[in-house]
Amino acid sequence: MGFAKDILCIGAGYVGGPTMAMIAARCPHYKVTVVDINHARIAAWQSDQLPIYEPGLDEVVRQARGRNLFFSTQVEQGIRDADIIFVSVNTPTKTFGQGAGRAADLQYWEKTARQILEHADRNKIVVEKSTLPVRTAEAMERILNANTKNIRFEVLSNPEFLAEGSAITDLEAPDRVLIGSKETPEGITARRAIVDIYANWVPRENIIESNVWSSELSKLAANAFLAQRISSINAISALCEKTEADVDEVAYAIGKDSRIGPKFLKASVGFGGSCFKKDILNLVYICHSYGLGEVAAYWESVVKINEWQESRFVRTILESMFNTVAGKRIALLGFAFKANTGDTRESPAIYIARGLAEERAEVVVTDPQALANARDDLTDMGDRVHFESDPYTAAEGAHALAILTEWDVYRQLDYARIFASMEQPAFLFDGRNILDHQRLFELGFNVFPIGKAALKHF
Ligand code: NAD
Ligand code: UGA
Repeated sequence: MGFAKDILCIGAGYVGGPTMAMIAARCPHYKVTVVDINHARIAAWQSDQLPIYEPGLDEVVRQARGRNLFFSTQVEQGIRDADIIFVSVNTPTKTFGQGAGRAADLQYWEKTARQILEHADRNKIVVEKSTLPVRTAEAMERILNANTKNIRFEVLSNPEFLAEGSAITDLEAPDRVLIGSKETPEGITARRAIVDIYANWVPRENIIESNVWSSELSKLAANAFLAQRISSINAISALCEKTEADVDEVAYAIGKDSRIGPKFLKASVGFGGSCFKKDILNLVYICHSYGLGEVAAYWESVVKINEWQESRFVRTILESMFNTVAGKRIALLGFAFKANTGDTRESPAIYIARGLAEERAEVVVTDPQALANARDDLTDMGDRVHFESDPYTAAEGAHALAILTEWDVYRQLDYARIFASMEQPAFLFDGRNILDHQRLFELGFNVFPIGKAALKHF
């Protein structure tokens, strides 16, 4: 059977894989191919053991794989065949040269553009799915259209707003899909082709069209606003701990104001994930490069508060355990940067595990999905950190537990059993405020939540 369109996605990661699986599942009349230079990753996408853990993903992939969804390492062939190319490669923070530590490292993006240029033999639409600095499309279009093959490329921006752990529901019913293009006739025609894809399942009023620069900047701004809410409530959590206000009560009260709204007001040990910090620092860099120092400083403070919140958590553990954790076993419950994912990129747990190990604690990490990544993240720590899949075993003989990821399974543990197996006095630091603190206190724990008065037996 012939397909109406041939869609390629370069980059089979957390975004490329699930996004394209959803497009394929909802658009059986399009052929969707996802390519990557990482052979192991592609092999995993072709197997029953997908390379990322995401609730509902297996089902969507199973529905379309082999029918109109294909995973391959044949990047060049994919480019030749495609009408539309989504680029979803990684865009990490630059670690070298000018802008190191802030600017986006665009080497993967640029390499992809040059590869597209080399292997394309007809006009194509190229779609930025990766998160990129505002005005990247302009640079990409320059590279692509500097060809002597008489081929035209339209570069569009279609940023992805899915969150890990809820990627499938986010993709099924997105708050909005944003598609930016140039306002030229060719740009508008290309934009229509992308709108047509999403219109197969997304209500038309949820598909927003804009100019390409607004689209690029909206992605950075959305992440900055979301992260800013977390840093705001985390800043308030510190004040709550000093004043006996309860941060959850404050968040509930302010979130009831319809102008503020209830979401993203959960105080925590800090935000993690591959994007918030990277995208804000990128925004900061762009602001500086346009001479907007005050705007840059404003957004940078969101990241600074987050780092402070993480270090504050380590300090709380240290100070409340009589200023020494040396030789004490501390079990970290959760290592993923949030629940329902195995992803540990920029997880606050990395910083906290390292901070405690530096204080010579015996750190034990447990997590239902992220242990393999945790091992990689802490590989240089040697035997100062241990890994344990069973939370009860992790807690055995521990002086303290610290909840670092809000996995449901940690709400349901038998804490009486855990308490009985721990060293006394037993401490519990709830970095996600997910447990019943009063009950734990009654069981005998000394409980230290975020943004609430501690419950202590001494
Ligand atoms: P990822 O690291 O999981 O995946 C990127 C993939 O691109 C890797 O598998 C890598 O091997 C591949 N790749 C790199 N260069 C390539 C090349 N030249 N040819 C073929 N493949 C190549 O990254 P991700 O989390 O999927 O993020 C991708 C982009 O999406 C980033 O810009 C990120 O900011 C953005 N984003 C991520 C999320 C998220 O939840 N992770 C959400 C929204 C947006
Ligand atoms: C975030 C955005 O929510 C997505 O819209 C965006 O597409 C994505 O970044 C991206 O660009 O990569 P993600 O990082 O997957 O998604 O997950 P979030 O749910 O946003 O959580 C980020 C971090 O903030 C987690 O560590 C989480 O635990 C923390 N968080 C979140 C809080 O501490 N409090 C909250 O109220 C919400």
